[in-house]
Amino acid sequence: MNQATTQMLVIGGGPGGYVAAIRAAQLGIRTTLVEGDRVGCTCLNIGCIPSKALIHAADQFANVRRFSAGGDKLGISVQAPQLDLAQTVRWKDGIVSRLTGGVAGLLKRSGVTVVSGWARIVDGKTVQVSTRADAHPDSADSVIQCEHLLLATGSAAVELPGLPFGKAVVSATEALSPAALPRRLAVIGAGYIGLELGIAYRKLGAEVTVVESLDRILGTYDEELARPVMHSLGRLGMELRLGCSVIGSDGASGLRLRDAQGKESVLATDQVLVAVGRRPRTEGFGLESLMLDRAGRAVKVDDQCRTSMLNVWAIGDLCGEPMLAHRAMAQGEMVAEIIAGRRRRFEPAAIPAVCYTDPEIVVAGLSPAEAEKAGIDAVTAQFPLSANGRAMTLEAHDGFVRVVARRDDHLIVGWQAVGVGISELSSAFSQSIEMRARLEDVGHTIHAHPTLGEAVQEVALRALGQPLHI
Ligand code: NAI
Repeated sequence: MNQATTQMLVIGGGPGGYVAAIRAAQLGIRTTLVEGDRVGCTCLNIGCIPSKALIHAADQFANVRRFSAGGDKLGISVQAPQLDLAQTVRWKDGIVSRLTGGVAGLLKRSGVTVVSGWARIVDGKTVQVSTRADAHPDSADSVIQCEHLLLATGSAAVELPGLPFGKAVVSATEALSPAALPRRLAVIGAGYIGLELGIAYRKLGAEVTVVESLDRILGTYDEELARPVMHSLGRLGMELRLGCSVIGSDGASGLRLRDAQGKESVLATDQVLVAVGRRPRTEGFGLESLMLDRAGRAVKVDDQCRTSMLNVWAIGDLCGEPMLAHRAMAQGEMVAEIIAGRRRRFEPAAIPAVCYTDPEIVVAGLSPAEAEKAGIDAVTAQFPLSANGRAMTLEAHDGFVRVVARRDDHLIVGWQAVGVGISELSSAFSQSIEMRARLEDVGHTIHAHPTLGEAVQEVALRALGQPLHI
């Protein structure tokens, strides 16, 4: 068995783990990263990136199909399009390979030792590595001793009781690499993943029914933000079963549902996509042996991502919500810098979040309700995209930008927006909050015309009672 020592050992090569490793190596820390799968993990291989690729392909296909129907208001007409799904998946896989290859190159160039294999924690300073995830501890290939152990094992899709993942019941992982398009897809969960992928499958041609136990879609956002998405689901011809729980499968091609009144029904379907949340990945690698403090299923960390054991750190989805790649990256970078001797804390003024539905939703900071709950006397203003010239030229007039600011000093505490292509405003949103901008700062900044960003300036002016274009 090989023996090795390192200063910092990272378990998990997702966005949190690989960023931590690169930064640590840059700062002169001897760093080893253990990953059993491809680096980039969920985000690059089976999450953020491939889903955005599939969503883009579905958008293109739906656009061409729209023009092939004839009589389009843009005056464009084409022949009916054909979908070569295998080629779509190959194109998406090509992007994934380029990015994972790029990350592997970055790790190598920065001097990180990457060990390919599955880690098993022996104690806070010792990890065994095996080529197989289920290998017996006695058959480990190597043992690595470390001064600092960074846990970045991410999260896994939640399974529903009675509906184990298999051929007909899939998670986002399988849904992102379809061998064929199901004629009928049932999506369980109208959250991020369910709606992003449900909309993409609908645009590619599947009949999609979304089953949601709450009485509304996108429960983490306020209803006003979710409304344009709700309208779009209707336009796309997607069926929604709100207030409905799945109580099990009904043979090979059906789901048994129960609505809010207790009435049971059967939903016929060819494939089921379960998108009811993700849970921190805490099992199968000896984590329990450390007996770390937990926050529910998640590993509990402080504002420096320290766990309850000295020199054992945890970042990303393993620490619970918000399960977002950019939050994990920021935490990973911070831990590397603390280990290198810098004074850092994880206290972002805002962590932006984007939902890539059609239209997209982007939020940063506090919503009006959250500001109220936090005891902030806030002013709120909204600017509709129907009054934005660029949005009109993009046929993207459904949606709005909203700002939330303190009434007394106009400090901006939150942004929300919904609209086609609106996700790109996320940088402006988080920068303004992080830099403690006031409504006047944004309202009096010259924004390029014609852009969707003008709605950001306009809504700040509107909150000041000085709107120009509405
Ligand atoms: P989610 O928490 O966003 O949505 C799950 C939905 O399933 C909820 O609306 C819930 O009410 C519903 N549900 C739960 N059990 C149900 C049942 N038995 N029957 C019917 N409905 C049920 O979870 P999702 O979409 O799986 O995403 C997981 C995580 O991944 C999110 O927390 C998010 O942070 C991350 N993510 C982020 C994305 C982004 O940033 N664009 C995209 C996709 C995921």
